[in-house]
Amino acid sequence: MVSRRDAVFSAQHTPLPAPTRQMLDLPQRPRRNRKSAALRGLCRETRLSTESLIYPLFIHDGERDEEIASMPGCRRWSLPGLTTEVAEAAALGLRSVVLFPATDERLKTPGAEESYNDDGLVQRAIRAIKAATPEVTVITDVALDPYNSDGHDGLVAADGRILNDESVEVLCQQALSQARAGADIVAPSDMMDGRVAAIREALDDDGFDEVSILAYTAKYASAYYGPFRGALDSAPKAGDKKTYQMDPANSREALREAALDADEGADMLMVKPAGPYLDIVALLAAEFDLPIAAYQVSGEYLMIQSAAAAGWIDREKVVLESLLGIHRAGASAVLTYFAKEAAGWLQR
Ligand code: PBG
Repeated sequence: MVSRRDAVFSAQHTPLPAPTRQMLDLPQRPRRNRKSAALRGLCRETRLSTESLIYPLFIHDGERDEEIASMPGCRRWSLPGLTTEVAEAAALGLRSVVLFPATDERLKTPGAEESYNDDGLVQRAIRAIKAATPEVTVITDVALDPYNSDGHDGLVAADGRILNDESVEVLCQQALSQARAGADIVAPSDMMDGRVAAIREALDDDGFDEVSILAYTAKYASAYYGPFRGALDSAPKAGDKKTYQMDPANSREALREAALDADEGADMLMVKPAGPYLDIVALLAAEFDLPIAAYQVSGEYLMIQSAAAAGWIDREKVVLESLLGIHRAGASAVLTYFAKEAAGWLQR
């Protein structure tokens, strides 16, 4: 009895021969290197490790930790909450954190003086972390936007222009104040011209020659930062950041910025955002001998969070793949809001 399906099949096709050992004479069979977990392990070129992750943390001067509406899954930490969170992260093997302050509106001024208050929120947070977990490397953001009543990374002139050289002077004060509080690495994210050289000189003159500079070298004017500005209430009051942050259309401009930062004494170069700019990560990694960091920013974080919350993707797998991709492109350090969770997953 021949089934209908077999009848149709044999009417149209001659039957396939039984499998033989050498059907095709292929000189190369790449699948051989993928045939078992053991072989895949031997062939793996990149490994994600907790050591390469940097954990960005938002802080505020409140009594309690608050959920951040624009960034579900992230909190604005009180100082006690912060030290506990950092200690937990350290127990999972995380070694580096970067701090972002939500400044009280009443402390924001056109001159951003609060940025170099030695008793300011970030300065107190650095001291609290260093007292509780001295082994953790503390990185600080050098930029005026959380302190500036105009919401820009630099000082704003009456006509709306962002003042470069005047801003650099304030950024130097800010970096010095962070260094005095115990910061290990200062990370200028402001994109003013000449700030790396000026900050290096200011630090060295005050005896902080061991404080490193992680330069936000290729920081693009990106829509992916939107949720972050919600977290800090730091969006520009007028205009946008396109006269200082880079045009997303450009990659050769990143080479120019990197050459300047390297020349000015940066210890590491950063690319930001990370995922949509992997070509820039790879370019800088190929062209420069400084270590490359990349920042998986708030919008990248939320795209994964929201797709996972809808049940559309496997959260853990996508997070780890996104971080591996950034690492593979050439970043030895990755800033990610998933750092603590990823550290937990990597430990298993
Ligand atoms: C501030 C700063 C920003 C981010 C890091 N530092 C925002 C901006 O430049 O407007 C964005 C980080 C993120 O989106 O996760 N200079």
